[in-house]
Amino acid sequence: MADDETRRRLVAADEQGDDGATMVALRPQTLSDYDVGQGRLIEGLRVAITAARQRGDVLDHVLLDGPPGLGKTTLAHIVANEMGGEFQMHSGPALERASDLVGLLTNLGRGDIMFIDEIHRLPRVVEEYLYSAMEDFRIDFVVDSGPYAKTIPLELEPFTLVGATTRAGLLTPPLRNRFGIFHHLDFYTPEQLTRIVHRSAQILRVELTPEGAQQIACRSRGTPRVANRLLRRVRDYAQIMGDGRLDGAISAEAMEALGVDAEGLDDLDRKYLNALIDYYQGGPAGVTALAATLNEETDTLEDVVEPYLLKIGFVIRTPRGRMATERAYAHLGINGRPPEPPQPQGNLPLD
Ligand SMILES: Nc1ncnc2c1ncn2[C@@H]1O[C@H](COP(=O)(O)OP(=O)(O)OP(=O)(O)O)[C@@H](O)[C@H]1O
Ligand SMILES: [Mg+2]
Repeated sequence: MADDETRRRLVAADEQGDDGATMVALRPQTLSDYDVGQGRLIEGLRVAITAARQRGDVLDHVLLDGPPGLGKTTLAHIVANEMGGEFQMHSGPALERASDLVGLLTNLGRGDIMFIDEIHRLPRVVEEYLYSAMEDFRIDFVVDSGPYAKTIPLELEPFTLVGATTRAGLLTPPLRNRFGIFHHLDFYTPEQLTRIVHRSAQILRVELTPEGAQQIACRSRGTPRVANRLLRRVRDYAQIMGDGRLDGAISAEAMEALGVDAEGLDDLDRKYLNALIDYYQGGPAGVTALAATLNEETDTLEDVVEPYLLKIGFVIRTPRGRMATERAYAHLGINGRPPEPPQPQGNLPLD
């Protein structure tokens, strides 16, 4: 049950429950469309792409790392559009057998883009074939085994691998080292999200005031996917409850009605903070204990609730468990002060 509930979260950064067609329409197609956010990354990509194009080269392999919903898949499409190669999209865990990968690789043309999402979940046997494919554009495919084993050397056309991962730390070093271009995506600022929401509103032909855009941006948890989703829900609300225009008041009202508060927190986030503050006097409390109190999975708390609360400084992690901060008390309107976080042990006096 807990699982269904998290899947339906309006502020979840993953793709669950998104209406595919509109989301595709909102996806920037070129680097200049993307101009919002991730400045250094975009500049780096622009230089690499322009230089490769000038030389008539194939672009180096690109690794994109960062939390869900920040634009990794979008950027992979953009790389293909800018380089003019065919785009092939695959997902790490779905490439189960080495022969699947080998088939896909041998079908690539010069300059094509192979995108592998969740590349950290690629099975090891499959991953090993990527090493020589990426480095030398060749594979030695082993067929059969034992005394009948044969190696078939296969030449590949030079291609660009774009890998995306939410957990770069889980990538094996040999794979990571074969990417020439490595970029980390970061959460967006409210100003950047405001621009994205305006752009999306234009595409959806929604009348959105600057205050409306600001309201949505501030509640989007730094994530364009959440911003686009909230925009569509607010549009529905304004169409039924108002005159269809998204100004500050109706946007705020719509999101309050949807349970998304001024910081972008939803019911589950608030339940988590309340448990930490009421049951555990602000902490420290272990995540397993919190999960039991809330009747939720530990993984749900660690993967979908805590990252954002940590990021906005409502919760801190200490060696003895999670603790609520003053900002969390203030946001929930709770009187009282959070306990002092345990001090790191100082050096023992030696004299
Ligand atoms: N810079 C941007 N400008 C406008 N829209 C953006 C931008 N970055 C991302 N988006 C929008 O955010 C949504 C999510 O982006 P995308 O699917 O690329 O995320 P992702 O990083 O691949 O997420 P996941 O890890 O879940 O696969 C897309 O619908 C896209 O339109
Ligand atoms: Mg994606």
